[in-house]
Parts: sequence; C-alpha cells; structure tokens
Amino acid sequence: MIELFGVMGNPIKHSLSPLIQNEAYELNNINAFFQPFQVESKNLEEAVKGMKALGIKGFMVTVPFKAAIIPYLDELSPGAEKIRAVNVVQLIDGKYVGYNFDGEAWLKALKEDMKIDSLKNQNVLLLGAGGAAQSIYYTLAQEGNVNVDISNRTMEKAEALVELSENKKRTQVISLKKAESQQEKYDVIVQTTSIGMWPKTEHSPIKLSNLKKGAFVSDIIYNPGETEILRQAKNNGAKVQNGMKMLASQNVLCIEKWTGHKVDSNRMLQTLKEALNN
Ligand code: ATR
Repeated sequence: MIELFGVMGNPIKHSLSPLIQNEAYELNNINAFFQPFQVESKNLEEAVKGMKALGIKGFMVTVPFKAAIIPYLDELSPGAEKIRAVNVVQLIDGKYVGYNFDGEAWLKALKEDMKIDSLKNQNVLLLGAGGAAQSIYYTLAQEGNVNVDISNRTMEKAEALVELSENKKRTQVISLKKAESQQEKYDVIVQTTSIGMWPKTEHSPIKLSNLKKGAFVSDIIYNPGETEILRQAKNNGAKVQNGMKMLASQNVLCIEKWTGHKVDSNRMLQTLKEALNN
C-alpha cells in the first residue's frame, strides 16, 4: 500500500518539499506520496488526530505550528523538548514523536560544503536568536568543542539561548555592533535572521568588510540565492553557502527517518535550484 507523508503549515502552497520529496520517492522506488496540508490554527488538534487516525507515518511542520503542535504530540526528542519547537513528526509504535532537524540539517550542509568532519575549536558567530537560531545553537552546543558567540538585535533573546548549552563558557552574547567590529575573529559566520530575505534584499544584519582569511559565511535564507551578506562575504574572499543545501538536507533526513532510504541530496539541490530560478 502507498504510504502518505506531508507538510503541515499555513500558508503552505509555496513549500518546495512536495516537489523534492515526490521526486526522491520516484527516483528511489519508494512507494509513497507527499502532500501539503494547509491547516487553520483552530483546527490544529483535530488535524493531528486525523493524521494519526489515517495512519500517516510522518509529516513536516512549518510556520505557524512549530511550537503550537507540541501539546498534541505524544513525545518529543531531547532536542525538540529543549528548543520547544518541532519541525518533523514520526509515528512510532502508535505515538507521534516530534523532532527538530533544523540545526542538524544546517550542520550537515555546512560540513559538506566546508569539507570538514568537525568544527573543533573553531570560532562561530551566530547572527539571530529566533526559532532557526535556537535549533542551530543547540546542535552546535551538543558538539561540545565549538566556541559560539551569539549576536541579536534583542540581546535578551540571545541570552536566553545560552541556556540551551551545557557549556556556557564557550559562548558570549554580543551586540550586532560588536559582532561587526570583531568579525575577523570568526572562522564561521551563520546568518539566521530574516534580514536580506526577498523582497527586502538590500539589507544585511552586519556589514562584512574585514573577515578572517579563509572564513566561511552561511546564510540560511535561500530566496534570494545570494543575500546581501553573502555578496559582501564573497567580495571579502570568503567561501559562502545559502540555505538551499540545508533545505535539501532537511528533506533527506526526513526520508531517511521515515522510510529508511538514503537519497541523493545533490539531486534534490539541483531540483531546488531549478525551481527557485523559475
Ligand atoms: P525564525 O523562526 O525564522 O528564526 P524568528 O523567530 O521570527 O524567525 O526570528 C527572526 C530573527 O530575525 C530574530 O533574531 C530577529 O531579531 P529580534 O530577536 O531582535 O527580533 C531578527 N530580525 C528580524 N528583523 C530584524 C531587523 N530588522 N533587524 C535586526 N534583526 C531582525
């Protein structure tokens, strides 16, 4: 019997996950179909119950339900529990278990593009303290051996993030101004704010003009493919990465978790690039 998977959100019609998931199922002979589900907030509980009653084995969760869905799930992974946000759900022994793959997907994509296995003793600057930043910070803190400074317009939000780490000494919370003035300290800069996202593409949270030699700058935004901060980074000789690979990694991790199949993330990346260029 064909398995049904999906993504739940509102609005959902611009999601690229149905395109790349269904293509991956076809290419890898996975007998499944991926459906976008647009749900009204007031119907969230019934929607989750309905998904379970229909035997849906897994679904992604996106804006605005990443936190709101938690009361309707049976269990959370340790990461999702700490972050209090879920973006992937799997049915295990009749229970819906919530995970957060944002951080893991980002780190996998980063390591692939930097061609490294570990960020050991590297200095990382995390720009932003929203939902995506939380998951990325939690994942970096789990690595245990990375120095991560956090910079955000609202400093209190960055300070709250540090609570997700067992090793608080490896993190300093700094202003955006200070991050800009000490940019040459960082091996990796990860941009997680919404600044630079289409349609306000001319802005960047800090100006990059004095990067460390060999620095790597990662922006989790994928539309536009080159944000203002990535443009500045490139002009400074840095290697850069946009959010497309993270999005592909996220979908690869889901398919692996739900079906046990390992699929090609490069093929997915290609499809994403083509879809975004059209
Ligand atoms: P997400 O879940 O996608 O990470 P979010 O939780 O709304 O989104 O977080 C958005 C991030 O972008 C926050 O770090 C936010 O900074 P604040 O915590 O100070 O709000 C940042 N951000 C958005 N617009 C900004 C702006 N104009 N200037 C500086 N930071 C901005």
